[in-house]
Amino acid sequence: MKAAVVTSFTSPLEIQERPVPAPGPGQVLVQIEASGLCHTDIHAAHGDWPVKPVPPFVPGHEGVGLITQLGDGVTNRQIGDRVAIPWLAQACGHCGYCVSGWETLCEEQQNSGYSVDGGFAEFAVADARYVVPVPDAVTSFEAAPLTCAGVTTYKAIKVAEIKPTERVAVFGIGGLGHLALQYARLVGGTVIAVDIDDTKLELATELGADHVVNAAQSDPVAAIEDLGGADVAVVLAVSPVVFEQAFASLRRGGRLVCVGLPPESEGPMSLPIFPTVLKGIRVIGSIVGTRQDLSEVFALHALGRTTVIAESRKLESVNEAVDDVLAGRATARLVFEF
Ligand SMILES: NC(=O)c1ccc[n+]([C@@H]2O[C@H](COP(=O)([O-])OP(=O)(O)OC[C@H]3O[C@@H](n4cnc5c(N)ncnc54)[C@H](O)[C@@H]3O)[C@@H](O)[C@H]2O)c1
Ligand SMILES: [Zn+2]
Ligand SMILES: [Zn+2]
Repeated sequence: MKAAVVTSFTSPLEIQERPVPAPGPGQVLVQIEASGLCHTDIHAAHGDWPVKPVPPFVPGHEGVGLITQLGDGVTNRQIGDRVAIPWLAQACGHCGYCVSGWETLCEEQQNSGYSVDGGFAEFAVADARYVVPVPDAVTSFEAAPLTCAGVTTYKAIKVAEIKPTERVAVFGIGGLGHLALQYARLVGGTVIAVDIDDTKLELATELGADHVVNAAQSDPVAAIEDLGGADVAVVLAVSPVVFEQAFASLRRGGRLVCVGLPPESEGPMSLPIFPTVLKGIRVIGSIVGTRQDLSEVFALHALGRTTVIAESRKLESVNEAVDDVLAGRATARLVFEF
């Protein structure tokens, strides 16, 4: 099978021919039909984060396709089922987090395209218990971005506990942001989309953003203050400065939802104590979502409540796709179709 492989943190991905993996006990083999490129895959390929994956590895945690083989003992899935392989490749299933609806915090978890090979290949093996069925009404091409960008921002909006008409500032209208703003609208929020690129802001308006701010042309903090301040700021941009702007744009009782994961080399964000305390600000970290969250994301999409904006690419052009995302040239999400 063809796979895109990270061989070192300093060289481009390599397209390699590899043997099709055999599903082990409890695993399924999935023939990938579509696989999204998340900015996380780029962080993985560059070794940006404190905990690094070990090359060689196959990135990808938005892989969607058909089950073609079952490993020993698999009873909950069948050959022909269409499933998504998300970031949460596996969790222990019995710790306090796993049994209380927080499997995404399990300390024993494995992650697709990071600690285990992911979806940038014609086939991938996955734990049968952690793949998520894709409804017939959702195409694989659209299911792919929903598998990380969708579920992550759906969860971020859930934990922000938005009340109707509250102002929600979404910083970064890329793969995650174009969906974040739709979930914020679905729960009744008034959306302020912030990016540094007018094309992305035009897309935000088309998708229902109530206000847009170009942070390259004006100070986003002042612009959001002029609108009355944000009740919630969701940060999806890959730069600590943006986290500080998002914090500063909050009004009293505000929630800062941290989702973007800038490279460790960019340093920490600073959190001023005085306004945090006096304004009663809550700072919330949010990491992907559970299998149940992803099922809800698919169900919402099947109902026609969300729009996925994505562009089809070929796996052979993976490095060009990475360059396009880094340069801000990508239309929301790039999806490799097989
Ligand atoms: N917490 C999680 O569970 C989780 C899950 C998925 C991805 N992520 C992380 O989220 C981040 C975003 O991922 P993505 O795939 O959406 O990336 P992306 O590259 O598609 O989107 C980033 C967007 O930020 C915009 N941007 C850049 N500078 C900006 C600025 N100064 N102000 C406002 N916007 C700015 C870019 O123009 C782009 O539209 C990455 O760091 C990724 O690793 C986190
Ligand atoms: Zn992702
Ligand atoms: Zn666990």
